Amino acid sequence: MSEKSSKLRSSHWFGGRDRDGFIHRSWMKNQGFPHDLFDGRPVIGICNTFSELTPCNAHFRQIAERVKRGVYEAGGFPLEFPVMSLGETNLRPTAMLFRNLASMDVEESIRGNPIDGVVLLCGCDKTTPSLVMGAASCDLPALVVSGGPMLSGNFHGVEIGSGTAVWQMSEDVRAGKMKLADFLEAESCMSRSAGHCMTMGTASTMASMVEALGLGLPYNAAIPAVDSRRYVLAQQAGRRVVEMVHEDLKLSKILTREAFENAIRVNAAIGGSSNAVLHLLAMAGRVGVNLELQDFDTLAHDLPLLVDLMPSGKFLMEDFYYAGGVPAVLRELGNLIHRDALTVNGKTIGENTREAPCWNREVIREFSQPIRERAGIAVLRGNLAPSGAVIKPSAATPRLLQHRGRAVVFENIEDFKARIDRAELAVDENSVMVLKGCGPKGYPGMPEVGNMPLPPKLLKRGITDVVRISDARMSGTAYGTVVLHVAPESAAGGPLALVEEGDEVELDVAARKLELCISDDELGRRRAAWSAPPPRANGGYQQLYIEHVLQADHGADLDFLLGCRGAGIPRESH
Ligand code: FES
Repeated sequence: MSEKSSKLRSSHWFGGRDRDGFIHRSWMKNQGFPHDLFDGRPVIGICNTFSELTPCNAHFRQIAERVKRGVYEAGGFPLEFPVMSLGETNLRPTAMLFRNLASMDVEESIRGNPIDGVVLLCGCDKTTPSLVMGAASCDLPALVVSGGPMLSGNFHGVEIGSGTAVWQMSEDVRAGKMKLADFLEAESCMSRSAGHCMTMGTASTMASMVEALGLGLPYNAAIPAVDSRRYVLAQQAGRRVVEMVHEDLKLSKILTREAFENAIRVNAAIGGSSNAVLHLLAMAGRVGVNLELQDFDTLAHDLPLLVDLMPSGKFLMEDFYYAGGVPAVLRELGNLIHRDALTVNGKTIGENTREAPCWNREVIREFSQPIRERAGIAVLRGNLAPSGAVIKPSAATPRLLQHRGRAVVFENIEDFKARIDRAELAVDENSVMVLKGCGPKGYPGMPEVGNMPLPPKLLKRGITDVVRISDARMSGTAYGTVVLHVAPESAAGGPLALVEEGDEVELDVAARKLELCISDDELGRRRAAWSAPPPRANGGYQQLYIEHVLQADHGADLDFLLGCRGAGIPRESH
């Protein structure tokens, strides 16, 4: 071994000339690797979330091959490994339940293997935070390559966006405005290429967060999955991660408080998903950065919406890439961004974006001519959400941002589904729909059901939005005046559990207020009479999750996963 290679983790596996070294090399050679690959060069893990059950990541084998090409070119030794893949559309009860489990898989797979640096292949919503969280708890040099968004959907000559079109069209079917046959035809028109949701949903948001955090190469977020430049980026990432190992450029040098502040501001400017709140809090918790729910409001509530993408606007990720992508947004934010924050390519975010062009001012606006003023996530508090709740004002109906109405209460999602279509449901346009039992512990896993579909009797009258409140999440592709992530959740005894049918609820986003309009005495009486519902698990991971999951205001990570445990060399296995 050279002096340099003796510093690499992988040398503790592949560098020995004893029995253990023989074992580690010999079995690897059954794959046809020549002996010189074990000469002390950096071993790069390619953490792959490929799965045919995760359609957004189904093209990742091809991307991994391009990363490998780059690693070899730079003198590294690439080794691809699978980790648990979380597909948003198929996995039940909700992919979010397994984000933390997947992060454990990632963390232990990296630490337990001869890996010096890692490329994280991320796509569908939860695959980005789970891989970053797991890698952050190891703190090796790491770089994210996102899979890229699908091409824009097109139905009967009209562009349609992932998710967003589903919510719109299914409401049209329920309102009798769209034929079922057309609705079913739209399935293949919406998802017509490899890639993840091409609206500014959670996947595109998290890919943009990766870029804003400095974890991905410039333009990582927006290049379409099938664009040849996506494969160029993957190859360049492979080259670069080898250099990062030589430079010892660890995740903790990039994931600083400043990087998270940049991400929060970019999330506001792009009209990003409310799910970013949970994921950024959880990522920060793994690297020991002190980030709080309130930071999202304090740092970005007054930032304008600059990017006109669905669900807040009208364009799609393909348009965003052609217009200049995240680098153009970062440039537009000027000194609101910490421009000296370091990124994976060894340059600062300011250096990366100083000359970033914008090619379409309809898609990416100038800072002085935004689509909407003050578009950042608002953090609400009050006797209904003592630990906070969030709303995405850019996706809400402006006149409902200050509203007082009577609660229509659903005790859980089954209760909601059983009653929402009934003609006798006592609901009108001034009602506040309240859904319980959908928080981290209660569901369990905090599903994306907070954007409750409206009752048909309102839809038929042309009413498209009412205030909705829950301890659930909302798909990043959804929209509406939807208050989410109420903490503490109802299953943990939060005041949401105590709301009764007909109670008045007051939402005042400007005042950051969410109040249940009953007396403290009445609230106390209800609390004394309340008992926790039985946990919805009988052993296994779900039991572990319910017992250890933190509330939404702490990112819903498991309490014992907080922090960085490093990448020390584990004891030998034989
Ligand atoms: Fe995978 Fe939307 S379902 S990104």
